[in-house]
This record gives sequence, C-alpha cells and structure tokens, in this order.
Amino acid sequence: MPRLGTVRGVAHTRDGIDWSARLEDMKRADALDEEALRVVAGRLARPLPDSPTVVDAGSGSGGMSAALAGALGARGGGTLVLVDAVPELLDAATAAARAAAGGRVHVRPVLADLADADLASLVPSAHLVWAARVVHHLPDQGDAVTRLVGALAPGGWLALEEGGLDSKHLPWDLGVGEPGLQDRLIAARREWFARMRQDVPGSVRLPVGWNVVLAEAGLTDVTAFSYLVEHQGPPTPAVRAAALEWLGFHVGVAGDQLHTSDRAAVRRLLDPDDDAWLGARDDVFVLQARTVALGRRSQA
Ligand SMILES: C[S@@+](CC[C@H](N)C(=O)[O-])C[C@H]1O[C@@H](n2cnc3c(N)ncnc32)[C@H](O)[C@@H]1O
Repeated sequence: MPRLGTVRGVAHTRDGIDWSARLEDMKRADALDEEALRVVAGRLARPLPDSPTVVDAGSGSGGMSAALAGALGARGGGTLVLVDAVPELLDAATAAARAAAGGRVHVRPVLADLADADLASLVPSAHLVWAARVVHHLPDQGDAVTRLVGALAPGGWLALEEGGLDSKHLPWDLGVGEPGLQDRLIAARREWFARMRQDVPGSVRLPVGWNVVLAEAGLTDVTAFSYLVEHQGPPTPAVRAAALEWLGFHVGVAGDQLHTSDRAAVRRLLDPDDDAWLGARDDVFVLQARTVALGRRSQA
C-alpha cells in the first residue's frame, strides 16, 4: 500500500506483538465499535475550542480516528494528528480518518515510537490527546503519560482509555468441554498480560490507578467515565467473527495455560468442519465496558 504522507521514519513497538498481522481483525472490531466511538468522540469534542488540534496516540486501525474526524468535521473542522509505530496500521487509520473527515479536517499521520518519542516536538500542541489501550504497551507507563501531557496546550484534555471490564462473547455452558471456558480463558489471558508487561524491555511497574497517574502528571479536573460496546441478539456475521477472533486470540496468547480438556474443546470450537464450530452458534455476542480517564492541563 502506498504511504499516506507519513511524517518521520521510525517504526517498532516494545511489546513483541505483530500488530500488522492483527490489522484485519482490528478493522472488524472498529466496525463493531463505530456507534459507541461516535458518541465518545462527540462527548470529548464538545468542550474544545474552534478549529482544535486533536492527537490520537496509538491510533491502531483508526476506529476512533474516524470518529474523531467525524466529530471535528461536524463542528467546523480542525486538525487531527495520528501517531503510531506500525506503518500498516498508521496507513489504515489515516485512510479511515480521511474518509470520515469530509474536507474540513486536516489529517496528519506521524510514525513514532511513543516509548521514547518527544511527542511535544512531533505534534502541534493539542487541545485533546486521546490514547486508547496503547500506554500499557510502553515500558514506563507513568513516564509515557507525562509525555502525552507534555503535548497538551494549556487547558487541553488528556483522555486515556485503559482498563474496564473483560470482554465477553460466549455463553457460560457451550455444551463442549466443561462449563466456564470463557472465565478460564480470561484468567489465562490475564497471566499472559502480566508476562507481556514483564517482558517489555525496561518495563517499570505502575503501582497506582489511572486517576492518580493523571493527577501526578499535573492534570486537574481528573475524572473518568465508562462506555459499553454491546451487540446482543441474533449475531450478525461481524459478531460471529468477533467471537471467533476473541477465542483465537486468547488461545494464541494463553492456550498453553489451559487444561488439556479445555484445549480439546477450543480446537472443536475453532474448527469450521466440526458441528461444535463457534461460528455457527446463534448465542454469541459482544459485551465490552471500557473506562476513559480524563484530566485537564491547567490554563497557565
Ligand atoms: C491495542 S491497539 C489500540 C489501538 C486503538 N487505540 C484502539 O483503541 O483500538 C495498540 C496500538 O498501539 C500501537 N503501539 C504499540 N506500541 C507502540 C509504541 N511503542 N509506539 C507507538 N504506538 C504503539 C500499536 O501499533 C497499536 O496500534
């Protein structure tokens, strides 16, 4: 794919994850998130001044980039800066944001490693920095938040999406293997997450919650809200795909922690030729609760 006018040329993450291989799954997730993200973007854009500058740090495949572009376009325009370390993802986010921007929003991609980039020198000072599910991939999360804060204009907002509740997709008893498979997969994935954090080179523990991190980084008016991404009822093909992707991801990162009987059940659930194939079930769903911590840089 041709590059879309990206600024700078460094590109790697610190977490050992092959993000470009996840691009198609991430795009599918963006489609399911679209309505929820539109509401969140509108809420975050409301207090911004005219023609604001917004940064989407760790923009992924661009679900929120598109929502922010739409929100800025609806209020007369502005500048949207997308930052990510993975070129394929940054291109996808740029294309998604430009498609949603409607001509009045200037979309500018910046290829940068947020683990050490001096963000303030790469982006114009921002009235809003949105950073969703990226800070936990960086070695020193507190330091990363301080650098995100450094990119804020006086009075600017940092919105940091980290945490919430574990995603749910499956009924408790699938009739394959023992009941409670989803809970055991979530427990196994949490252990993988702890290992992933430990294995990030230079990893530093963050022994406080996000409201304290934001306050310690000098922000005021610190608060938080949570939002749901929910798709219930007869599953659409996208919901079935999300359930399969969730199962595949969990087994990929944490399958080695599972009991043999759970591994056998998962094999059947992921096999399109098995009559237990998850993709043919009518009782899968998407339920996610995500928390956004918010804080404001003082006007002075
Ligand atoms: C879990 S995804 C989140 C994407 C998007 N913000 C969302 O909520 O859907 C994490 C993103 O952070 C990016 N990322 C991970 N480590 C990074 C780093 N050191 N510098 C810049 N981006 C990084 C990945 O490329 C990926 O796009």
